[in-house]
Amino acid sequence: MSNLHPDLERILVSREDINNRVKELAAQISYDYRDAEKIYLIGILKGAFIFLADLCRELTIPHIVDFMAVSSYGKTTSTGAVRLIMDLREPIDGQHAIIVEDIADSGKTLKYLYQVLQWHNPASLRTCVLLRKKKNMLDVPINYLGFDISDAWVVGYGLDYADRFRTLPYIAEMKQK
Ligand code: PRP
Repeated sequence: MSNLHPDLERILVSREDINNRVKELAAQISYDYRDAEKIYLIGILKGAFIFLADLCRELTIPHIVDFMAVSSYGKTTSTGAVRLIMDLREPIDGQHAIIVEDIADSGKTLKYLYQVLQWHNPASLRTCVLLRKKKNMLDVPINYLGFDISDAWVVGYGLDYADRFRTLPYIAEMKQK
């Protein structure tokens, strides 16, 4: 693509493919929870905010949006810890909850959040992740998955590099420096 930013190598997932997949995921979630009174969508800041915004507007079932934020240390090491820096606004005990994440890289963030949210005693807890890197994935369930991708640094559609490129409408691979 001729107008791709010089720091970007190539587009991995196009705007059209994202839009189509988000619609499919929302349709599947709407079907799976058709008998639920409502569900809670829990977006993980910052990366999930665009994915969550598009996903929830495609749902045809009652839903409540909430957010959590975490901070990661030593992401490139096997001991990288995750710390909760913003919790839910309201309790989800007895409710159906879905964690919405932009990407599972090592899977540590998702695994941590899954454990933390189980302590809130929801009626059910599932995960919806737009992108999954296969490498180093920890054992954590991903119930709704957008795309499997290769082990590259990706940006766009919520994902950043030093807070840049988050609002690109597609997922792109960064050039290696
Ligand atoms: C990214 C992404 C996930 C996490 C995945 O967040 O949004 O939350 O990393 O990585 P993991 O599977 O190896 O744990 P980041 O720490 O970059 O923060 P941000 O969402 O605020 O950009």
